[in-house]
Amino acid sequence: MLTFWERTARDWKHFGPPLRPSGPDVARFEALARGEAERRGRALSALLCGVTPEIAGMAWPADTRLTAVEQSIEMIREVWPGDRPGFRVARQGNWQAPPPEPGSYDLVIGDGCFISVGFPEGCREFGASLRRALRPDGLLVMRCFVQPETREPVERVWADLEAGRIGSFHVFKWRLSMALQPAPEAGIGLAEIWDAWSRGPLTPEQVRKNTGWPEAAIATMDLYRGREHRFHFATEAALLRALQATFRLESRHVPPYELGERCPILAFRPV
Ligand SMILES: C[S@@+](CC[C@H](N)C(=O)[O-])C[C@H]1O[C@@H](n2cnc3c(N)ncnc32)[C@H](O)[C@@H]1O
Repeated sequence: MLTFWERTARDWKHFGPPLRPSGPDVARFEALARGEAERRGRALSALLCGVTPEIAGMAWPADTRLTAVEQSIEMIREVWPGDRPGFRVARQGNWQAPPPEPGSYDLVIGDGCFISVGFPEGCREFGASLRRALRPDGLLVMRCFVQPETREPVERVWADLEAGRIGSFHVFKWRLSMALQPAPEAGIGLAEIWDAWSRGPLTPEQVRKNTGWPEAAIATMDLYRGREHRFHFATEAALLRALQATFRLESRHVPPYELGERCPILAFRPV
C-alpha cells in the first residue's frame, strides 16, 4: 500500500494555503534568503527539507545551490519542479539521516516539517539533525504549524463551518485537525480526523453547496481515511522548548492570511 505521502503526491495540486505556502510566505522566505546571502557576501548553499515547489521555485539569491531531501520518490516525481544543473537537485533521503554534506549549509529551509516527526522527542532529534546539516553560523527557516495555547473546541470549528465563517476547506481541515488533537505528544491520527469528518453535522455535498469550495479540495480529506500517519501540533512555546538545546529563535513572522497566527515563519540560529 502507498504511504500517506506517496498517495498525497498525486493529489498535491488540490492542496492549497495554508497547507502549502502562499505569496506572503514566499516573500518572507525570499527576504530571509536574500538577507543571509547579503550577510555572507557570497552565494548560498541551501538545504530544503521536502520538495515544496513554492520554495524550490522562489527567487533565490544569484548562484544559490539548493539540495532538496525527500523520502518519497513519488513526491519527487510528482511535486518537485525538476532538477536544474548548477542550481537545484532533489535526492531521496531521510531528514534524520546524515545530510548530503554535513556542516556545509548556510541555510536550511522547510515548510511544516515539524508536525511529521513526532513530539517532543522527534522534534528534538530532527532539530539536532538540522543543526548537523548547518554551518555553525547558519540559518534555519521553517514555517511551523502550531496549536493555539488554548485548544479550540471542535464544536466551534463545526459552528464556524456551518455559519460560513471559514475561508477555505484547507483552513477548516487544519482547524478540525488541531481541535481534535488531545495533546501534542499523542498527536492526531489522520484516520481519526477522517472519522470525525465523516460523523460531522454536514455531508461533503452540503459543505460544497454551502461554500462553493471545489469538490477536489474537499476530497483531499479522503486521503486521511484509515491512515495511521499522525500529525503532532505543538504550541509555538512548546516547539521552541523542544528545540532550545540546538536552536535559538532569531526572528518570527506571522503571515497575514486566515490562520496565519498558527503558521508562523520562524528563523533560528544554532546555539
Ligand atoms: C515538507 S512536509 C509538509 C508539506 C508542506 N506543507 C509542503 O508544502 O511541502 C511534507 C513532506 O515531507 C516529507 N517527509 C516527511 N518526513 C520526512 C523525513 N523524515 N525525511 C524525508 N522526508 C520526509 C514527506 O514525504 C512529504 O513530502
